[in-house]
Amino acid sequence: MTTPAPTVTARPAADIVAQFTLDEKALLLEGVDAWNTNGVERLGIRRLFLTDGPHGVRKVRQNLGAFGLAEAEPSTAFPTSTTLAKTWDPELAYAVAAAIGRESAALGVDVLLAPGVNLMRSPLCGRNFEYFSEDPLVSGVFGSAFVQGVQSEGVATSVKHFAANSNEDYRFVGDSVVDERALRELYLRAFERIVKEAAPATVMCAYNKLNGTFCSDDRDLLTGILREEWGFDGLVMTDWGATNDRVAGIIAGCDLDMPGQVAHNRASIVAAAQDGSLPTELLDQAVTRVLELVQQCSHGLIHPAGPVDPQAHAELATRVAVEGAVLLANDGTLPIDAIPQQNQRADAAGGLLVVGEQFERMRYQGAGSSLISPPETTSPKDAFDRRGIRYSYARGYRSLDLTPDADLEREALAAAAYADTVLFFGGLGDLEESEGFDRTTMAIAPAQVRLLERLVGTGAKVVFVVSAGAPIEIPRAGELAAVLLLSLPGMHGGEAAARLLLGEANPSGKLTESWPRSAADQSALDYNTSEVARYAESIYVGYRSHDATGTDLAHAFGHGLSYTSFVYRDLDVQLDGDQVRASLTIENTGTRDGAEVVQLYVRNNRGRVFKADKELRAFAKLRIAAGAAERVDLAFALADLSYWDVAEHDWVLENGDYEVIAAASAADIRLTAPLTVTQGRESRSPYSPAVDRAYATPPTGVPAEFADLLGRPVPSPTSTGRLGMETRLGDAQGTWLGRVFLRTVVGRVQKDLDSALALPDSLERDAKVKSSNFVARMMPSMSLRAMAMASSGGFAHHIAQALADLDNGHRIRGIRRMLARPSTPRTATARTDQETR
Ligand code: BGC
Repeated sequence: MTTPAPTVTARPAADIVAQFTLDEKALLLEGVDAWNTNGVERLGIRRLFLTDGPHGVRKVRQNLGAFGLAEAEPSTAFPTSTTLAKTWDPELAYAVAAAIGRESAALGVDVLLAPGVNLMRSPLCGRNFEYFSEDPLVSGVFGSAFVQGVQSEGVATSVKHFAANSNEDYRFVGDSVVDERALRELYLRAFERIVKEAAPATVMCAYNKLNGTFCSDDRDLLTGILREEWGFDGLVMTDWGATNDRVAGIIAGCDLDMPGQVAHNRASIVAAAQDGSLPTELLDQAVTRVLELVQQCSHGLIHPAGPVDPQAHAELATRVAVEGAVLLANDGTLPIDAIPQQNQRADAAGGLLVVGEQFERMRYQGAGSSLISPPETTSPKDAFDRRGIRYSYARGYRSLDLTPDADLEREALAAAAYADTVLFFGGLGDLEESEGFDRTTMAIAPAQVRLLERLVGTGAKVVFVVSAGAPIEIPRAGELAAVLLLSLPGMHGGEAAARLLLGEANPSGKLTESWPRSAADQSALDYNTSEVARYAESIYVGYRSHDATGTDLAHAFGHGLSYTSFVYRDLDVQLDGDQVRASLTIENTGTRDGAEVVQLYVRNNRGRVFKADKELRAFAKLRIAAGAAERVDLAFALADLSYWDVAEHDWVLENGDYEVIAAASAADIRLTAPLTVTQGRESRSPYSPAVDRAYATPPTGVPAEFADLLGRPVPSPTSTGRLGMETRLGDAQGTWLGRVFLRTVVGRVQKDLDSALALPDSLERDAKVKSSNFVARMMPSMSLRAMAMASSGGFAHHIAQALADLDNGHRIRGIRRMLARPSTPRTATARTDQETR
């Protein structure tokens, strides 16, 4: 696939629209395939080339459709977003994004489909590794830096997935039922910051419904909030297959349908434009936005990209992996003293034993649309061997076979008899964590749990080095010598692990999400119980809930240890106009240079409006030499302390006594200072007394008052067990047709997965299992509509409707639909090309 050279002239887009035929307008508003938009050669309008993000550039070599995971051109596989955020250094996010921008430009990419800024509502979401945080400030700051970095290299971004897309199991059909305040304060807030601060060229709307309306049809969301309130002037595109009703979508402000090629959608646009139900100005507005994006991309958003320096990008990937790793626990065993000793036998008593397949086959990225093909990788084993470290190694388990392997386990335990220190590399495998499905437990594979427990039982000091894109249960946590979280650290994650374990680098990452001890303690009250996702916890997400309930967490939001220690002192807080300014001194009191992430929370006033106990308002990462002290200044706008008032439909600042908190984590408060606010309004609750009571502290189950909080009845799940346009295929197994259909669509991908699993043990097998597992696990959660919309014309919309009719007893209508020729306007690409000549 080649991207044609830019041909668009600098004429204002609105002038060009006038020359379009109606068919050409319909064409321009959709993709021609999974990765390209349509062009109109006759008018010199070129195609746009779009690729995933967000952890590198995924330019596929072979177009296999929306979910086809063909091999991609090599590009730097940076640490995943969750790791990037755990550096707490937005400048690193900017640098990574600029590097991805340069690589994108070199590969002819116009729009990078990144960053993902959805909130980590639950530790079980399969896609948390692609997101930044449970906290909207962290998500917004990192998302904003990312957009600015990519766009500084002349490549457009697409901030995704707008909005409230916090699960995978129901992503195609789910309805996120969220109260107005939680939506504004949490789920929209990162998007708002990014739009206002970084001006992304595009926004990608999510698959799911938000309060009953598909995001792709939601005019309040895409026009009212995004454009009219926040001033977004770019383009909105669908997620791949997220269109519900194309005409409603255009009216709502959804400009581009991806991956497109849906005859039904083009026909609807043409028909609606002809009968007037789609006003010409709205159609032309969407066309204009596509043209403006083509023009912007053709001229480089800001300036042409700089040259690609693969070595510098590789070093940056390593640095981020180092800075994003979090030392969760340490009894002093880390860093290990593993100076190469020529004469020491690897199996000598007191030696170092390494256990776990992930030592040699590091899991450094997630599965799904963000999959990158890196030019090279460094596993921990590579990094150890490069340094000449003496160790013995036992594989212990196989990541892609979840059940224990008795022989591997026996071998590891036998080796442990000689070991003083055991480094256990493990965590989540690709069968357990991926885009396309969620986890049902935070537990890791039984094979790893049993082995870890037995290793601890030998009395050796066991250090657990974790690869996982989301929180896990840590077996025998209290008895481990240390736990180092690498998250998913990108292609040189092994080098980062070696530097940290051996003390060449000092850990400085901190968690950007709370780690409950098990999923039962998560703050989401209703996660994946049906297609109706009741966000009944409202504003109490993550630490906003755990703070108040006193949940006994494994690790608090913001937690992370260092090989040195920091003392906080002399907090000074001043109100300076509309800014709150805080300054404090941090001293490195240990013997190693290190970095500390200072978190500034504000404890909310106790007024009439229910609030979280405290919320993060600013943060900074300070690199401080051993024995040195630094003064740091932090600031935030007084207005940030406002809550969203559902009676005013606006932000309201409440007068009262607040408290500024300087902390090393949400659970490690070091200094406090009072802050009295008099510039706002006297406290008054916009809620009913019943809601005030139910939400005074985080509810422990979905409260009856949730409907009152929402201001309408809570919808009920509607799945009937039959095929329907909006039923997950996996839920439509009550009928013969539903079962046959699911078996047919899953059959092919399942065959791919089975043949991958049958391959001999190798890295090639791992890669194939990973990719086919993603699609096989995702298929049952698709609906007939989503399939039709995502298939680039391969599965026609009228056939989808016919199947739904047949399965619901409407045989005659179904057969008619099945036999009908879909009305296809003259919008095929070929026709347009002919017209050009
Ligand atoms: C994902 C998006 C991605 C798109 C294209 C969708 O399934 O949700 O994040 O950008 O596919 O690969």
